[in-house]
Amino acid sequence: MRTIDPKYSIGIDEMDAQHARWIELIEEFRSVGSERLLEPAGFDAAAQALEQLLNYTRSHFASEERFLVTHEYPDIDAHKLRHGELAAVVEQLLEELRAHKTNTTPLKLNLMITIWLMEHIMGEDDRYARFILKRPISTGTVKRTLQFAKKD
Ligand SMILES: [Fe+2]
Ligand SMILES: [Fe+2]
Repeated sequence: MRTIDPKYSIGIDEMDAQHARWIELIEEFRSVGSERLLEPAGFDAAAQALEQLLNYTRSHFASEERFLVTHEYPDIDAHKLRHGELAAVVEQLLEELRAHKTNTTPLKLNLMITIWLMEHIMGEDDRYARFILKRPISTGTVKRTLQFAKKD
């Protein structure tokens, strides 16, 4: 299982491992997306990296939503809605990259992706983790990330 940088840990092993992979793909996209998007090859490479990121984003969201159902998270509908919005934004960017038409500079593009996705982990995801980890019923069914467990 992948380990996550403790500053991005929400304290739940399974989700932290998925977020670690997600961050890895964001980083990959950032490094490819930093190249000049003026050449067709640059667009293609960025689109490919973004497609991989989008696929993983979708599978992570689906897996996380199942997790939230299992743990009876009350704000699941709002969380799902947010996932839908985030995936739509990534989808839109992918379309633009594929069509080789985006006015967005690579730097801005990278910042947008990073901020949206990372903020989601640190904000909304962290909120459900707090809820689930506090529930007495979750004790023993959720594996806590060591780093977090120590803080408790
Ligand atoms: Fe997540
Ligand atoms: Fe989420």
